[in-house]
Amino acid sequence: MAKKDLIIRLGGEGGEGVVSAGDFIAAACARAGLEVYTFKTFPAEIKGGYCMYQVRCSADRVYNQGDTFDVFCAFNGEAYEMNKHLLIPGSVFVYDGPGGDFEPEIPEGVTAYPIPMTKTAQALKSKRSKNMVALGALSALFNIYEGTLKEVLTKKFKSKGDDILEFNLGAFDEGKKLGEALTKVDDYKVAVPKDPGDVIIISGNEACGMGAVLGDLDFFSAYPITPATEVAKFVAEHLPKKGGTLLQAEDEIASIAQVLGASYAGKKSMTATSGPGLALMSELLGMSTMSEIPCFLIDVQRGGPSTGMPTKHEQSDLFIAIHGGHGDSPRIVMSVEDVKDCIDMTVEGLNLAEKYQCPVILLSDGSLAFSTQTVPAPNTNDFTHVNRKRWDGTGEFKRYELTDDNISPMCDPGTPGGQHIATGLEHNEAGAPRYGGADRVKQINKRFGKLETVEASCKPTEVDGEGDADLGIIAWGSTIGVVREAVQRLRDEGLKVKGFYPKLMWPMPVGQYEAFAKSCGGNILVPEVNHQGQLAHFIRSETTIKPISYPISEGLPFTPSMIVEKSKEVL
Ligand code: COA
Repeated sequence: MAKKDLIIRLGGEGGEGVVSAGDFIAAACARAGLEVYTFKTFPAEIKGGYCMYQVRCSADRVYNQGDTFDVFCAFNGEAYEMNKHLLIPGSVFVYDGPGGDFEPEIPEGVTAYPIPMTKTAQALKSKRSKNMVALGALSALFNIYEGTLKEVLTKKFKSKGDDILEFNLGAFDEGKKLGEALTKVDDYKVAVPKDPGDVIIISGNEACGMGAVLGDLDFFSAYPITPATEVAKFVAEHLPKKGGTLLQAEDEIASIAQVLGASYAGKKSMTATSGPGLALMSELLGMSTMSEIPCFLIDVQRGGPSTGMPTKHEQSDLFIAIHGGHGDSPRIVMSVEDVKDCIDMTVEGLNLAEKYQCPVILLSDGSLAFSTQTVPAPNTNDFTHVNRKRWDGTGEFKRYELTDDNISPMCDPGTPGGQHIATGLEHNEAGAPRYGGADRVKQINKRFGKLETVEASCKPTEVDGEGDADLGIIAWGSTIGVVREAVQRLRDEGLKVKGFYPKLMWPMPVGQYEAFAKSCGGNILVPEVNHQGQLAHFIRSETTIKPISYPISEGLPFTPSMIVEKSKEVL
């Protein structure tokens, strides 16, 4: 079957502009009407170290970064060394030469195009523009739309100064000439676009920020941490325009305390952080549970623990998200599959926090954080906003009143007759401290009891496939996109495989898991990017299913072929 997509990988050193070049290709393809999915990985250092950017574009929907590349463009010798084992017959290799810092050996069956990137940039007296020489050559070789490329280039560099824009456009043209001078012998080129429709191209982090603004947020407080910082960056730019407030706190503990304070004052509030920040916030999440103050938090997971691998992908905060609290502290935990989800589920997370008056944690991850994808432009009218149950001013106000749905009305400070104590101490219905006995039991049952309807409030878990299957694959987070493609490939080979893609991680929709596993004869595979197989652990502890755990932890996402191979092994 002819390949419908094109995967271009760029590799070089931090500081060489690999990320910008990749962003330009992705934006140009998206603007021209293609579906785009990108993946980048870079070191924790600001300058130096191996940097990689992969763009997958297609006229059809793409769900992940793909298995490997069709075209690899190496900016330096290190990038070549890191990727030379992937230069297989049929692939194309564009590299900095002659005049680069390496002399590659071209394997048989690989098409190589040398482009003197460094030499050309030096001749133009602008070392910085090496990436633009490469971009011009790639544009010529693979038909990447010159018009849209120049548009996005101009948009980016104009803000840096006319001289910078000019030397970059010049370098692009030089690169284009170099590309055109080569005899093209491969068949790869960017697909013919369809009607672009009303789409935007944004990263997972920007999409979380957009969801916050679309979700009617009033207040955001955060402390910067890789890979979550861009969520706050987006909110800082857009929330104040809507009358909201963003505060950069002095640390994560202060930021979650400010979120609770603003939420107590009646404002929809949230924060965004990564694993170490979530760990610091855990004491105050207990306060949110006990005092029933709505609190929404996005955790953009990274390789942990501690400083770990801050710029690398991992899905290893499920344990802390679900059970990382002192005492019996129920909360709602959800996860996102892709950039579109980052918008939609941020709105949903804010709504659930308001409805259930408890901590709600949304798990994103390092790969999604920086992945740019095409998504339909969101329309404000597509979203519903839930506001907390508020006291209607009649009768005696009891902040922790026992109700049928275990959710008590709240009352903004200053409301006449609504004086109450919002407290981290155990309490009675009025909020007065109680250190045990019947009130303790009633209140703890209330805090757990109100979450019994969460499953019914959320969309049912998506089941990919119908009828019975020989194997079921359960995936969460950005691994879902990889599994979607793997399931399709396995089915194309005649194998009976289904997928199950939970987004509500806790409370666990146990009945839905059981029904899925039953339809797959109990044969369940759970691939996830953490060492312990954290979802597999919860499946074992909460259901009767005995899953086969498939954990990986090298700081990279799965590829569809890894899932295909493992599935065949299991089958
Ligand atoms: N002409 C002028 N400016 C150019 C350029 C060109 N031809 N090409 C790139 N640039 C600019 C970019 O616009 C960008 O500036 P901006 O930040 O104002 O947008 C800057 O140079 C960096 O280039 P970019 O392409 O984005 O990055 P890179 O491929 O050189 O890689 C990073 C460098 C981004 C990976 C690295 O600097 C970094 O940030 N590492 C991560 C650090 C981190 O998060 N650590 C975690 C600590 S816990």
